[in-house]
Amino acid sequence: MNEQKILEKLKHTRDRALARYSGFKVGAVLVTKNGKLYTGHNIESSSYGLTICAERVALFKALSEGEREFKEIYIMSNNDEFCPPCGACRQLLMDYAPDVQVVLMTESGKKTSYSIEELLPVAFTEKRLIEKKS
Ligand code: THU
Repeated sequence: MNEQKILEKLKHTRDRALARYSGFKVGAVLVTKNGKLYTGHNIESSSYGLTICAERVALFKALSEGEREFKEIYIMSNNDEFCPPCGACRQLLMDYAPDVQVVLMTESGKKTSYSIEELLPVAFTEKRLIEKKS
């Protein structure tokens, strides 16, 4: 799948965002190591704290379909600035997609990318859980 196709999917999912309270629409496309794409957009709640970000929607969709290995996650908002993932999404990406490259894009064509280690240095991970029940 080439980047033009990913970009089209990214804009399409972002435009479907359910962001009636903030007006801030975010789309994410998560690419698995074998090239499958999972989309997600933010879903806001009238009880604001229950809102879920685009990145976690894409990640949870993929995980619940049995995917375990991820290559990239593309993220774009409806504002022409980069939209880096929030802290909660960084933690979930570190837990379930530690090899993922986070690619931030804008409508006008700006692009930058980070590893999850760059976005979440000195992370809490399962390796720090001393007492693990097997
Ligand atoms: N949001 C995302 O979906 N992803 C991000 O990376 C940052 C924030 C959403 C949550 C909320 O619906 C809106 O953007 C404003 O915070």
